[in-house]
Amino acid sequence: MAAIEILDLEKSYLVGFWRKRQKLALRPLRLTIEEGEVFGFLGPNGAGKTTTLKLLMGLVFPTAGTARILGKNLDDPEVKSQVGFLPEQPYFYDHLSARELLNYYGQLSGMPAKGRSARVEQMLARVGLSDSAGLQLRKFSKGMLQRVGLAQAILHDPKLVFLDEPMSGLDPMGRREVRDLIQQLRNEGKTVFFSTHILSDAEALCDRVGIIHQGELRGVGAVADLTSETRGKVEIIFYSQTVPVGLTSLGAEARVSGDMVNAVVPEEQQDAALEVLRRERLRLISLTPVRSSLEEYYIQKLQPAEAGDDARADDSRDKENRKGAGV
Ligand SMILES: Nc1ncnc2c1ncn2[C@@H]1O[C@H](COP(=O)(O)OP(=O)(O)O)[C@@H](O)[C@H]1O
Ligand SMILES: [Mg+2]
Repeated sequence: MAAIEILDLEKSYLVGFWRKRQKLALRPLRLTIEEGEVFGFLGPNGAGKTTTLKLLMGLVFPTAGTARILGKNLDDPEVKSQVGFLPEQPYFYDHLSARELLNYYGQLSGMPAKGRSARVEQMLARVGLSDSAGLQLRKFSKGMLQRVGLAQAILHDPKLVFLDEPMSGLDPMGRREVRDLIQQLRNEGKTVFFSTHILSDAEALCDRVGIIHQGELRGVGAVADLTSETRGKVEIIFYSQTVPVGLTSLGAEARVSGDMVNAVVPEEQQDAALEVLRRERLRLISLTPVRSSLEEYYIQKLQPAEAGDDARADDSRDKENRKGAGV
């Protein structure tokens, strides 16, 4: 069974004061996340990531479309008990201690009193806050608050965890801790859907990523595929102040920088290229496969869409929406 099935969810907001118009925050989104998957929802600010998460959490209502979580409709009360959520900027009542706050959330989510405090202590230990559990939250750093938020999200042992920008605003140490926690959730077989604009975090953690920009899903792919040698080329770096003619005739793209040459050749020409270097007695520095990185994919997906493709079709619909709103 799919963990999350998003069926053409769409959200527009009414914006403006005097002349209200509709702003399409999320164009019809269709996406399926399998159980046990760690999925990264990537996109720049304003892309529609938080809107998507809020729709899935039932915090805002869609303009159109539906979604199913663990096979159930969003308004099914059972969904709540199987889902954990860390909002983008969690706000907690800061006169409570971490322990008090988690106990309170435990009560809210209907955890039976028996075993609740033990579970709270367990979660505090898991996010590394046992020693500060009695301290008021206003004395906590941003990183510590984020960990309280994570403990809150997994307190009731949900099957599916939604995290909105869990690493943003954290120092490298804090980011590492949050990464490790997500890794543990994956090892436990949980499904994790998190949004981020930090590519390296997505690359380190995710099975698949989706790229969203201007409310539109621009691409979905397995990280392993996106970062593997998809291009079939190798980069050869060696000492020389000129590009040997032999290399150029192999179809190498080469440039000289100082006393080094950087040449990219098709994989099947690798041996021939090395033979050229040997013949010319040039010293090899390195030979590495050219990888198509997640970053490259991301940048490519953020480019404006070509004329005539789907995105344009959506643009015209956006105009119609505005017309419909009386603009
Ligand atoms: N409550 C709202 N009212 C009007 N516009 C909104 C509201 N919430 C979000 N938006 C707009 O929807 C778009 C997507 O926002 P959001 O989902 O928060 O993006 P992200 O989380 O990717 O940064 C933005 O242009 C934002 O201004
Ligand atoms: Mg956001």
